[in-house]
Amino acid sequence: MFATSDTVARALAADIAAALARRRRLVLGLPTGRTPVPLYRELVRLYHERRVDFSRAVTFNLDEFLGVAASDPRSYRAFMQRHLFDHINVPADRIYFLDGTVRDVDRECRRYERAIGRRGGIDLQLLGLGANGHIGFNEPARALIAHTHCTRLRPATRRANAALFGRATAVPRQALSMGMATILHSKRIVLAATGSEKARCVNRMVNGPVTPMLPASFLQLHRHAEVWLDRAAASRLG
Ligand code: GLP
Repeated sequence: MFATSDTVARALAADIAAALARRRRLVLGLPTGRTPVPLYRELVRLYHERRVDFSRAVTFNLDEFLGVAASDPRSYRAFMQRHLFDHINVPADRIYFLDGTVRDVDRECRRYERAIGRRGGIDLQLLGLGANGHIGFNEPARALIAHTHCTRLRPATRRANAALFGRATAVPRQALSMGMATILHSKRIVLAATGSEKARCVNRMVNGPVTPMLPASFLQLHRHAEVWLDRAAASRLG
């Protein structure tokens, strides 16, 4: 546990830089959202100070909105360019993203799973936590889908993403996302959560039952899953 979201970001960026120094060909799984913004800012700062090298890193982002092109400023791809990729030396051909504009969605999902496999699987999967307990876009449901798939977004999730689209009703109703197995097959997982709005969900994720109604609770089944919190997000831990 860390005092603030900035201290979480600094510690996590240092951890990632060390992992990249040990093994430059690290395969990273990356999230979007407000939580990773300070982390990406810190990684950019370390890069400018020549303290981290992404030249042989590989990245796979967790998810993308259906029907939104990479070139659209509202896409997760554009978000990643703005906050990270435009400022570091990860080669474009090592950046993998789901394409939300494809005609054949199932094929696109299979392509992504194959690409992850060809790169030897994800070494370090970073995650944020949706306010309703989702990870990636694996929404609370009676059952979860194992592999990369097209999913319907809950109204709360569309509201949480309203800032990108101006208003919640403009947020696409569907998205492509890595599945729960795609995430759980990562060698190491770090979920970061900050702020008091996440505190209740964090407690249920860590101390509650493993249930598809709170997808993040599945991380309890992983041997190398870590939860990095600031004080506010940890405030309801029982
Ligand atoms: C989105 C993303 C998730 C992310 C979540 C939390 O819905 N698809 O991957 O973890 O938001 O976002 P925030 O960090 O803004 O709370």
